[in-house]
Order: sequence, then C-alpha cells, then structure tokens
Amino acid sequence: MSAYKSFAVIGAGTIGLPIVEALVARSASVVLFSRPGSTKKTIPSGVPVIEVDFTDVPALSAALQEHKVDMVLCTVSITGLDVQTALVDAAKFAGVKLFAPSEYGFPTEGQTEGAMAVQLGIPTVQFYTGLFIEGIPRVTGYSEHGKIRIVGEGEKFASFTAISDVAGFVAYVLTALPPAELENREFRMEGERVRMKDLGKIFNTTVEHLDPVPKEKADLRTLLLEVLNSGMGSTGWDVINNREGSGADGAGSANGLWPGHQWKSIKEVLKL
Ligand SMILES: NC(=O)c1ccc[n+]([C@@H]2O[C@H](COP(=O)([O-])OP(=O)(O)OC[C@H]3O[C@@H](n4cnc5c(N)ncnc54)[C@H](OP(=O)(O)O)[C@@H]3O)[C@@H](O)[C@H]2O)c1
Ligand SMILES: *[C@@H]1O[C@H](CO)[C@@H](O)[C@H](O)[C@H]1NC(C)=O
Repeated sequence: MSAYKSFAVIGAGTIGLPIVEALVARSASVVLFSRPGSTKKTIPSGVPVIEVDFTDVPALSAALQEHKVDMVLCTVSITGLDVQTALVDAAKFAGVKLFAPSEYGFPTEGQTEGAMAVQLGIPTVQFYTGLFIEGIPRVTGYSEHGKIRIVGEGEKFASFTAISDVAGFVAYVLTALPPAELENREFRMEGERVRMKDLGKIFNTTVEHLDPVPKEKADLRTLLLEVLNSGMGSTGWDVINNREGSGADGAGSANGLWPGHQWKSIKEVLKL
C-alpha cells in the first residue's frame, strides 16, 4: 500500500482531469489546483478546487500544507511548463514527498526539463506514455483529410496509449505501490506499439510521406511526426544512449505493474 494519502493535481486539462477522476475512483483524497479565471470544467464532486496563480510560491505552499498534500502531479500544458520551478519550490517548502513533472509523452530522461525536479532535490516520478491514441487523427491529419500523413518512411516503432489507460495506470501505481518503488522512477507504459507506416492498415487508408522540415520552420505537429518517425516515439527509447532500451527499461515495461488490466488498442479507442 502506498504511503501517499493526499494528492494535488495542478492544471485541469487533457490529462489532468482524467487523472483526478482516476484517483477519485481509487478512493484517494485529491485537490485540484486551477488558475484564477480559467474556464470552468466538470470536476468530480468532493474534489476541492483551489484557484491559485501557479507562480505564487507562498500561496501554493500554503494550499499544499492546508490540504496535507504529500504528492503533487503537475499536469500543465507544454506552454505553461515554466511554472514547474515555482511548483517544485512550493512542494519542497510544504514538505511534499513526491513530485510528478508534466511528462505524459516520449521519454525525456537525461534531458534537463524532466530531470529538473531531481536536480532541485525532491523525489520525482515520471510517466512515459507515447502519443495519446486520441491524438493520432489530429497529428496525422486523418481528421482533416482522411489520410495518414507521416514524416519520413515510418519504419520505426512508436508507442500509443489511451488517455483513460494513462490516467488509470497513474492512479493505480500511486495508490498501490510503496514509495521505494515510486521515488525517482520512470514508468514506460504502452497501449499499442506500431510503426507509423502501418497506421494506414489500422485506419484503412493511404499513408502519405512528408519530407522533414527544418527545425525552426516545423510546427508542433511536424515535430511530433519527426519524433514518431525517429524511434524516439517509443516509451522504451533510451535518450542517453540514443537507442531502444530493453528489459526493465523497455517499451511497455510498466504495463505489468497493473495486474489484470487490458490496455486499449488504437482501433478500440477510435472505434475504427
Ligand atoms: N502524449 C500525448 O499525446 C500528449 C497529448 C497532450 C498532452 N501531453 C502532455 O501532457 C501534459 C499536459 O498537457 P495537456 O494537454 O493535458 O495540457 P492542457 O490541457 O493544454 O492544459 C492543462 C492545464 O495547464 C494549465 N495551463 C495552461 N496554460 C498555462 C500557462 N500558460 N501557465 C500555467 N498553466 C497553464 C491549465 O490549467 P487550468 O485550466 O486548471 O488553469 C490547463 O487546463 C503536457 O506535458 C503535454 O506534453 C501529451
Ligand atoms: C477499406 O476501404 C475500402 C475503400 O477504400 C473499402 O472498400 C473497404 O470496405 C474498407 N475496409 C474496411 C475493413 O473497412
């Protein structure tokens, strides 16, 4: 049984809200931090919403202390990642025991952003998910033109996971595993593993190959497609050694920690 009793989720977005719901479903005590004036969302009843500026360290740490929070999950958008420094400071000040930076994507181990909290001296836990399955139609352009547009040949395997599986896994391990199995750990989950070029079969449509774009000209979608074409889209990717990892560091190595769970496939989630 986990030693963490009270969780704070920071930012009520695409992954933050499902994590709040999944923690509530595991009977955990959760508070949600949201910015003053941000759009109202449907929050599970019984979850206090604390409106606070994510850069206001004294206000953040006071709220964390008031709710006796021992674990913080930062789920702010990529555009808001700057606030993580203030959140870590507040968490440390409030005696929070574990901090999950806003990852939920491709492995970042060894990169300064994801490792930031480790450097700042608070135990962290990182969740690598690959691309959310729900995002495939938008990232490939399928939702616009019915084709799968990829960058490059699409020969490398990439990881895809349903948002509900990501949230369910996070809530499960945080409420089931002891701190020693969570502190300074990376969890590499994977709902389905496919090569980008094989998405055509899954969607029953044509795959079109785009040329790589110079970095400074690439938009977020193109950057994602380049990662997915490169091998780095696998949750088993070893960032430091630039190769696919194996065993305990391999893609989907965390899946088995959620006993009996059936991970959803791309076809299932997108009803293809
Ligand atoms: N693997 C994937 O396919 C995938 C897809 C999407 C996201 N992600 C990752 O998941 C994490 C969360 O992304 P998301 O899509 O869930 O984010 P999101 O829904 O766009 O935003 C989450 C919350 O961040 C807060 N926020 C937004 N702008 C902010 C700013 N400028 N400063 C401070 N806070 C701000 C807001 O909180 P309030 O509304 O509560 O104020 C917002 O609801 C990111 O690290 C992202 O990279 C991964
Ligand atoms: C795949 O698409 C073709 C048309 O391009 C259609 O004839 C066929 O029935 C589709 N197959 C499935 C399994 O939907």
